[in-house]
Amino acid sequence: MAPRKKNPAPAPEQHAETSSEVLSDEEQRYDVALRPKSLDEYIGQDNERENLKVFVRAARMRGQPLDHVLISGPPGLGKTTLALILAQELGVHAHTTSGPAIEHKGALAGMLTRLEPRDLLFIDEIHRLSPIVEENLYPAMEDFRIDLVTGDGPHAATIPLALHPFTLVGATTRTGLITGPLQSRFGIVMRLDFYTPEQLKAIVHRSARLMGMGITDAAAFEIARRARGTPRIANRLLRRSRDFADVAGLLELDEATARTALDRQGVDRMGLDEMDRRLLRVLIEFYDGGPAGIETLAAAMAEPRDTLEDVHEPFLLREGLLARTPRGRVATRRAYEHLGVEPNTSAAASSGSLFR
Ligand code: ADE
Repeated sequence: MAPRKKNPAPAPEQHAETSSEVLSDEEQRYDVALRPKSLDEYIGQDNERENLKVFVRAARMRGQPLDHVLISGPPGLGKTTLALILAQELGVHAHTTSGPAIEHKGALAGMLTRLEPRDLLFIDEIHRLSPIVEENLYPAMEDFRIDLVTGDGPHAATIPLALHPFTLVGATTRTGLITGPLQSRFGIVMRLDFYTPEQLKAIVHRSARLMGMGITDAAAFEIARRARGTPRIANRLLRRSRDFADVAGLLELDEATARTALDRQGVDRMGLDEMDRRLLRVLIEFYDGGPAGIETLAAAMAEPRDTLEDVHEPFLLREGLLARTPRGRVATRRAYEHLGVEPNTSAAASSGSLFR
């Protein structure tokens, strides 16, 4: 699909120290290159986006830092992107780190004292801060102050150190993972939702344009439909589909080639990948459709519980393929139908599971 107009792989411009999910180098480069740079360029999350425009304008008019922002939502929906856009719109520097990377309160103090007035500190996976670090963050968020402790035992003394006013943007996969005291210190709390196929189609067209490739509207929609409501996945599927189009010598990616590419990558009609289907199959075949606890499922699949809960479950729940009950996860009728499996009614009835 030559010629390419642009090669979108610049180095990340923010002071990146860590990244939450394990992304390949390629993924990270494209994530950065395809990222929208302003709220006007940002597609989707309409309510949140329009509200942020107001909050940013108000903060700028008053010459104050934006209130602290907590962004939650499954991986790949644009939490980091929004944080970096906020810094851009506020005209300040973004400093990025993550919960597990701040190993002790000295490291936190080091980061906070480096901030210029109104700068933005982005902490990804903020739910993974250690309790001590989290406690030290409270006075910084509330009063722009940290308490340094010198000496120990009876000679210990606390020296308050003033910080420049700043904006903390915290990201987490689930708000339920955040402690009450931390959550209450954020003035702006927003949840990112899965994107609609129409929004993802617009994102796919935009990314294709930035990558200098041709794509038909039907191909863009096919990728969008199967991208599990997630821009990062849409962009990944777009890149892999482009490989198929290039090898076939096509000048533009068409629907048939996109379909083949997606099928060959194990992405099915509903956008489920291999792991999604494995989760449902384990639930159906090992546990008669459930209920089964998340720990049980994680052990049976030899996958980390967090991956199942953060990456796979939200989409399966939203698509009505999985249900959560007080006794555990249950495969729905839709899951059986999607996998083409006949429900074992006698076993399901005896375990009391069938189709919540
Ligand atoms: N690329 C990835 N996410 C995007 C979004 N929300 N809007 C525009 N382009 C994107």
